[in-house]
Amino acid sequence: MAEAKAPHGRGGFTEDVSAESLAEIGLRYEVDGEIATITLDRPDKRNAQTFATWSGLARIGESLPEQVRVVVVRGEGPSFSAGIDLRMFTPEGVPGQGSFGSVARLGDASFEQTVQQAQQGFLWLRRPEIVSVAAVQGHAIGAGFQLALACDLRIVADDVKFCMKEPALGLVPDLTGTKPLVELVGLARATDICLTARIVEADEALRIGLAERVVTRDGLADAVRDKTAELLSTNRDAAAATKRLLQGAAGRTLEEQCAAERAEQALRIKALFGGAS
Ligand code: CAA
Repeated sequence: MAEAKAPHGRGGFTEDVSAESLAEIGLRYEVDGEIATITLDRPDKRNAQTFATWSGLARIGESLPEQVRVVVVRGEGPSFSAGIDLRMFTPEGVPGQGSFGSVARLGDASFEQTVQQAQQGFLWLRRPEIVSVAAVQGHAIGAGFQLALACDLRIVADDVKFCMKEPALGLVPDLTGTKPLVELVGLARATDICLTARIVEADEALRIGLAERVVTRDGLADAVRDKTAELLSTNRDAAAATKRLLQGAAGRTLEEQCAAERAEQALRIKALFGGAS
C-alpha cells in the first residue's frame, strides 16, 4: 500500500497527511487504488482519541484522493477505541493539546467551535461519493462508538462491546453519533443504550441493526475485504447517486422522494446513453 500523499484531494488543497505527522497522533492512513484505510494506532492506550485524532481525521477527509470509493476505519490491537483520552478530563490535559477544562474556560462560543471542528473528523465519512466501513473489535466506547456510527456500515467481531458512556460521565455524545444511532436502532432503543450507558454486544448489535455482520475476531479483516470488493463491484456514479437518494429519503415525503429518484435517473440515463442537454 502506498503512503497517502494526497496532492489534490476533494477539498481542493493539500493537507498534511504524511505518515510521520499522522503517526505522531496515533493514526495510520493508507490508500490502495479505490480503497483508503484509516487505522487508529495507539493499541497500548486502546486507541483513545484526542483533539489531534479528530483534526487528523478531518485532514484525511479533506485530502482524500478522488479515486477513493471505500474508506475502511479500523483500530489496531484488542479494542477499536476506548473513546476520548481520559487525560482530556484532567486539569493538565494532553500535552500540547490542553484539556476540556481549558477549552471550556474560553467560553461557550469557543467551546462549541472546538467541538464543531472535532465533528468535522466524523462528518465526511458520510459523503455520497464514498462508502465508509467500520471494522470493530473489542471495545467501542464513547467517541469510539460514535466513530463507528459515523461510518455507513459496521462489520464487527464477536467480541465487540459498544458503549455510549458519555451520560455516565456527565456528558452528552457530541461527536455526530446521536442521529445515526436513532436512525439505526430507533428512539426507544437509542434512549435505552445511551441513558443506561450499558454495553451492547455482538448478537444484540446485529439484531437491532447496529452491525451489518458479525464474524470471528480472526475473520474480521477478510470480511471487510469481501465487503469492500462487493461495494466496488457496482458502478461508481450510480452508487454515489443511490447513496444520495437513500440519505435524503428520511427527510422527504414519498412524492418528493419519487421526484428525487426521477431526477437522479435522468442524470444517469444521460450519462450512460447521452441525451438532450
Ligand atoms: N483514555 C486514556 N487511556 C486509556 C483509555 C482512555 N479512554 N482507555 C484505556 N486507556 C489506557 C489505560 O490507562 C491503560 O494504560 P496503561 O497501560 O498505561 O496503564 C491502557 O490503555 C490499557 O487499558 P486497560 O488496562 O484498562 O485495558 P483493558 O483491555 O483491561 O480495558 C477498557 C479496556 C475497558 C476500554 C478500559 O481501558 C476502559 O474502561 N477505558 C476507559 C473507557 C472510557 O471511559 N472512555 C471514555 C468514553 S466517553 C467519551 O468518549 C466522551 C466523548 O466523546 C466526549
